[in-house]
Amino acid sequence: MAFDKKPWAEPYRIKVVEPLKTTTREHRLAAIRNAGWNTFLLHADDVYIDLLTDSGTNAMSDGQWSRMMVGDEAYAGSRSFYRLEEVCRKYYGYRYIMPTHQGRGAENLLSKCMIRPGQYVAGNMYFTTTRQHQELAGGTFVDVIIDEANNSFSDYPFKGNIDLGKYERLIHEKGAENIAYITVGAPVNMAGGQPVSMENMRAVSELSHRHGIKVVLDATRNIENAYFIQQREAGYADKSIEEINREFCSYSDAATVSAKKDLYVNIGGLVMCNDSELYDKLRSLVVVYEGMPTYGGLAGRDMEAMAEGLIEAVQDDMIASRVRQVEYFGNLLHEAGIPIVTPIGGHGVFLDAKRFYDHLPQNEFPAQKLAGDLYVESGVRGMERGIVSAGRNKQTGDHYYPELELVRLTVPRRVYTQAHFDVAAYYIIEMYNNRHNAHGLRMVYEPEFLRFFQARFEEI
Ligand code: F0G
Repeated sequence: MAFDKKPWAEPYRIKVVEPLKTTTREHRLAAIRNAGWNTFLLHADDVYIDLLTDSGTNAMSDGQWSRMMVGDEAYAGSRSFYRLEEVCRKYYGYRYIMPTHQGRGAENLLSKCMIRPGQYVAGNMYFTTTRQHQELAGGTFVDVIIDEANNSFSDYPFKGNIDLGKYERLIHEKGAENIAYITVGAPVNMAGGQPVSMENMRAVSELSHRHGIKVVLDATRNIENAYFIQQREAGYADKSIEEINREFCSYSDAATVSAKKDLYVNIGGLVMCNDSELYDKLRSLVVVYEGMPTYGGLAGRDMEAMAEGLIEAVQDDMIASRVRQVEYFGNLLHEAGIPIVTPIGGHGVFLDAKRFYDHLPQNEFPAQKLAGDLYVESGVRGMERGIVSAGRNKQTGDHYYPELELVRLTVPRRVYTQAHFDVAAYYIIEMYNNRHNAHGLRMVYEPEFLRFFQARFEEI
């Protein structure tokens, strides 16, 4: 085989493996019916290749496992906390660092400290748990992402960007004092892992601060965002991921992080800020919901694994291999003509269910069904990111009807090989050729909060 360009490879080798189990189609059909056609409700033992999420499903390194042995389990003042604090200060740049049990723990604290009931919170698209906590704190979320984000086949390189015009209109309409803050998610999970440019982040920061509005970064996958800036934005090709990540964070006042992604761990979160007044509020609330500010719901060993994970995560070759594996999988599908969100995102490949099942209306949950059908045909588990995830408008009671109706095939870090993605792609291509046989679903059980996790469906 001849190469037209230099191939890449993972900057690690495999030391421990975990066997996978295959099942029959009949077994899987019974399993998905039993799970109410919700892939979240499957038993993981019935799954072959698990692309449900990249959250907490990462493989840790020998360095991380060995640091866990030296974790300090002191209730207060743990040495492991001070190490995590030092590493986070170095790579993110914020003054105050507080661990939480996971990302939504950080979102809960921050929303409670920063939102007065009745205020608005601007953001680039939404994330499910982030918006839920903003609403529970009495806020109303307003989406100010650029229009390109809602077009699954626009090739715009920074589809996560804030539309400055939309944002400015919101400020003028509602008054700056009625906007609690703006959340910038980078990259935007719900848009398909689409990045935010440095130029946009700088402009958002400038505009916000001119009006006295704080900028909160959802830095959950910020290192992936830094990689896209390095690859796509003029002036950044020669900068390291570490430098780019720090510059990006420097335009914000605070950040929440789900460490279960970028930091290569199975559990953990962070809330970080520069302002001592906000930190004082966070510190008084954290003991109610998470634990002491020096452990925030985590064991000392978890904080060690996070610190080590962050040091590994910002290495240029590590992040490059992570994103390139996602790209490899996406290209297999794209080249076969399967409708996916392009450009391919940082943490997964997103099937466009509106185009895949173009015969199903959105209120028959085409993405939910496609995720279920993919599981039945292949044992590959993905998740719905469409009308079910979007939930209901609390004013009107109707579903939100998001433009994007997607199935997310998320790539856990350092877990699967390219061959696993060949197999997944093979089944998806086969299903695409038989796609018009699919029927929709009706929802038969709907939980009040974050319904996508536990809703149940039946075939129509
Ligand atoms: N922000 C983003 C952008 C996320 O993707 C997540 C979690 C959170 C916040 C919340 O963090 O799960 O640690 O409480 N995303 C997972 C996912 C659930 O599968 O995308 P958490």
